[in-house]
Amino acid sequence: MAFTLPELPWAKDALSPTISAETIDYHYGKHHKAYVDNLNKFAAGTKYESMSLEDVIKASAGQPSEKKIFNNSAQVWNHTFFWNSLAPKAGGDPKGAIAGAIDKAFGSFADFKTKFSEAAIGQFGSGWAWLVKNTDGSLAIETTPNAETPFATGKRCVLTLDVWEHAYYIDYRNARPKFVEAWWTLVNWDFANKNLA
Ligand SMILES: [Fe+2]
Repeated sequence: MAFTLPELPWAKDALSPTISAETIDYHYGKHHKAYVDNLNKFAAGTKYESMSLEDVIKASAGQPSEKKIFNNSAQVWNHTFFWNSLAPKAGGDPKGAIAGAIDKAFGSFADFKTKFSEAAIGQFGSGWAWLVKNTDGSLAIETTPNAETPFATGKRCVLTLDVWEHAYYIDYRNARPKFVEAWWTLVNWDFANKNLA
């Protein structure tokens, strides 16, 4: 069974003007789709073609000879997770269990916001900023380069922010800090709470 490009959880213009429909056309319609197409191409005729996406990521992680499979499968997963981390008319203060978990881990939402933004802005080159739940249940901020994902190392991902240039170049040009600041108005706390549970 071929790997497929999941539907977006909202209309492509629903995040505009923070993230424009044109960005979604490229980021989802071209970049995310290309990862799916390349994964299908590279997995064809191998043990990977009958695996779930999650199993492909775990089986190929950390193996130099499987880099193409890992990069494309992880990028398919990371992007789907990113779209679900966003919602129209969302953001603001965290709600539900995630609010308390953030206070416990980072002192306050304001402190978390500062630390997460600094991590996202400071990630050198292409990559991702993550809020993760460690195996001991604590929350932590991580960044990963390129296609790397905390999911591959057994951590529970709670939220992510894509800081590849393709995520913001149309709307913010080279100004990653402006994109990171705008991202807070779209954070899907319902999704974060689901991942925390
Ligand atoms: Fe991306």
